[in-house]
Amino acid sequence: MLHILNHPLGAHIITQLRDRTTPPATFRTLCYRIGLLLALDATRDLALKDEVVETPLEKHTGQALAKPLAVIPILRAGLGMVEPFTDLFPDVSVGYVGLERDHETALPRSYYQKLPPLADKRVLVVDPMLATGGSAVLALDALIAAGATDISLVCIVCSPEGVKVVEAAHPTVPIFTAALDRELNAKKYILPGLGDFGDRLYGT
Ligand code: URA
Repeated sequence: MLHILNHPLGAHIITQLRDRTTPPATFRTLCYRIGLLLALDATRDLALKDEVVETPLEKHTGQALAKPLAVIPILRAGLGMVEPFTDLFPDVSVGYVGLERDHETALPRSYYQKLPPLADKRVLVVDPMLATGGSAVLALDALIAAGATDISLVCIVCSPEGVKVVEAAHPTVPIFTAALDRELNAKKYILPGLGDFGDRLYGT
């Protein structure tokens, strides 16, 4: 269920994101642009329903999105991926799951959750770096407990270890990413990766 973005622009943007000399302002713009590509990729199978409109010339049966969407960023780095979704899908609901990684143990813990009703929606969880998979699994558990049944995970960079962990815990959740990297290092950072995404996004 791993979908790796297949577009030359994706590879171009990811390389610029990886570059340690890319300043936060540029990093945020690149994050927005890769987010647009991923948002399109992750929603290419959205259901449609018939919608009748009148063109200036005649009646026409067109199509409209059939199911409402929710985008759920995992705080804080996931915030950088919300705008592409709200720009492409202005009616999207936005919820928040606050998880932070303990820098010593690398284990995630929850500190905030605010969710719209999820049962009837396509839920897109956004988290730029799928590293150990611990945060993603915790977030998916929380969203399922809150009633979500149709969930996708959207990440900019994944580690093979993280993908394995998410697939083992949630085998029906598709993962969309722009890059599947080599491995995690001893501190659970992705290699080659791009460093701490939140720090680079916010200049901290
Ligand atoms: N989170 C990040 O921001 N970067 C990594 O490499 C791993 C987790």
